[in-house]
Amino acid sequence: MKESVLVTGGAGFIGSHTTVELVEAGFGVVIADNLSNAELSAVENVRKITGQEIPFEEVDCCCYEDFEKLFLKYKFNSVIHFAASKAVGESVAEPLQYYRNNLGSFMNVLELMKEHGVENIVFSSSATVYGQPDKLPTTEQTPRQPATSPYGNTKQICEDVLRDSIAAYAGIKGIALRYFNPIGAHPSALIGELPKGVPSNLVPFITQTAAGIRKELSVFGDDYNTPDGSCLRDYIDVVDLAKAHVVAVNRMIQNKGKARYEIFNIGTGKPTSVLELVNAFERVNGVQVPHKIVGRRPGDVEAVWADTTLANTELGWKAERTLDQTLASAWAWEKHLRNIK
Ligand code: WQD
Repeated sequence: MKESVLVTGGAGFIGSHTTVELVEAGFGVVIADNLSNAELSAVENVRKITGQEIPFEEVDCCCYEDFEKLFLKYKFNSVIHFAASKAVGESVAEPLQYYRNNLGSFMNVLELMKEHGVENIVFSSSATVYGQPDKLPTTEQTPRQPATSPYGNTKQICEDVLRDSIAAYAGIKGIALRYFNPIGAHPSALIGELPKGVPSNLVPFITQTAAGIRKELSVFGDDYNTPDGSCLRDYIDVVDLAKAHVVAVNRMIQNKGKARYEIFNIGTGKPTSVLELVNAFERVNGVQVPHKIVGRRPGDVEAVWADTTLANTELGWKAERTLDQTLASAWAWEKHLRNIK
């Protein structure tokens, strides 16, 4: 039986792009997803892009019995765990749903890895664990701040669960990738971000405004202590981010890690403001994005971007796509979704 990588949440935004890169790097992949925040069309389009009939299992990772069936049916050498709820605002309104889903699914993954001898895991973590860092750019040693949302707290707790599980169970090693702000879409424009309802994230709101679905973008504050007053973030192309997961899995399979638990910042190392991003989007795509300045959004940090030295030197990974290319891919995806020529 071919060894495979289990990608939980593999029908989602980052999971689908990572599956494409894994398959194109020669890995066998099994996608597991409960489709609570993803469409089956994403799996079909991943198959179209790769030309491979990648197995898809509709399963809730929180249901141990159902989830275990996958570990009996397939032989996995590694797991990449994306399956989680990820809307910051929703997590404030529904904390129990977030703790149950994000912690329950992750603990099931680790338990099943332990029971079925699966050694390697890549955990989808987030720069949100840094909160508003005292010093910028953030390195992996930058202290984590108390989480400002249940979503962010689940990321911190899962990192600690991973750390302690690796320390206790000799058969498991892991890498946590702390994503900054993933944006963009696959060059084929067949997969991309599919937010449900009104997007809370910036780039899908921009693309939907440019497509006329949203009337106007609200820029949440221009009175921050930044060059143009709007918040600074590190916008990382989703394909570059996906490639980082392939590098991380290979590092563990080839036992190249410096430790059994490693953490890497995955970003571009470049800060971009909200207004810079809006202007770049309009320039690159030749479209207007009607926008107005409104008040700050509660919970937003003023500025956060990555020091990517460790990922660049240790992983040998670096973001390659330019912001212009990424914003062009985001628009191409939106046009594909809305049948805009
Ligand atoms: C970016 C900037 C907003 C929308 C969160 C999570 C992170 C990850 C990505 C899951 C901010 C501004 C946004 C809008 C705006 N989560 N903005 N108008 O908050 O940096 O990160 O999402 O994958 O873990 O913390 O991303 O895209 O929501 O906001 O002005 O309509 O855009 O104020 O400065 P954020 P975001």
